[in-house]
Amino acid sequence: MRVVFLTGAGISAESGIPTFRGKSGLWNNYKPEDLATPTAFMRDPVLVWKWYDWRRGIVSKAKPNRAHILIAELEKEIDVIVITQNVDGLHQKAGSTRVLELHGNIWRVRCTACYDTYYNYEVPLREIPPRCVNCGGILRPDVVWFGEEIPANILEESFRISENCEVMVVVGTSGVVYPAAYLPFIAKRAGARLVEINPEDTPISSISDMKIREKASGGMEICVKYLRSLL
Ligand code: OAD
Repeated sequence: MRVVFLTGAGISAESGIPTFRGKSGLWNNYKPEDLATPTAFMRDPVLVWKWYDWRRGIVSKAKPNRAHILIAELEKEIDVIVITQNVDGLHQKAGSTRVLELHGNIWRVRCTACYDTYYNYEVPLREIPPRCVNCGGILRPDVVWFGEEIPANILEESFRISENCEVMVVVGTSGVVYPAAYLPFIAKRAGARLVEINPEDTPISSISDMKIREKASGGMEICVKYLRSLL
C-alpha cells in the first residue's frame, strides 16, 4: 500500500516551530511581502536574513515530535512518501528517507551570483547577509518565496506521486497555498482515500474521507491504527 503524507507547518507546531496562519501565526506579525518575496530580498537582504536567522535559531533547537517519528517508523511497514511544505528538515531528522520538499530547506543557501547551492548550518550567522564561500556573492535562503515557482522536477514528481497513492494523509496544513493545496484534490480524483489531521476545518476537509480533529501527534496515533486496518 502506498501512502503519501502531505504535511504543513501544523506538524511541527508541537516541536515549537510557529505556524504561518492562525492566532499565533507568523503572518500575523510579519507581512509576507516584506519578508518572503524576491522583491523584499532585493530591497533589503539584511532584513530578510535577520528574519531567517531568527527562524533558523528556532529550528536548530527543535526536535521531531511524535507525529514526525510515527511517519518515519511507518516506512518499516508500508510504502511511505512524504511531501512537505515545511523547510525545517524535521521529517529527515525523524528518519524519513523519502521526503519531497516543495518549498525548499531553511538550511540550504543559494548564491545570487554563481547560483551554487549548499547547506549552511551556522546559528547565528556570523555575517548578515552571508557570502558565498566560492565567489563572495550574496547568498539567499534556498527556499521558495511568494511569486516564485516550485522547481519543476519536484512539482512534477509530487503530482505523479499524488496520482498514484492509495491513501493521502494531510497533516497540519491550512490548504490555502497553491500548488501544494491541489495535491489532495489530485489524489482524491485519482481514487485515493483522503485522511485529514488538523484541529481545524480547512478547504481540504470537505473532500476528506476521514477527519481527525486532533493535534498532529495524537492524530497520527489514530491514523497509524487506521492505516494498519487497511493492510
Ligand atoms: P499554515 O500556518 O497556513 O497552517 C497551519 C495549519 O496547521 C492550520 O490549518 C492549523 O489549524 C494547523 N495546526 C496548528 N497546530 C497544529 C497541530 N499541533 N497539529 C496539527 N495541525 C495543527 O501552514 P501551511 O499550511 O504549512 O509557504 O502553510 C503553507 C505555506 O504558507 C508555507 O509553506 C509557507 C506559508 O506562507 C511559503 O513560505 C512559500
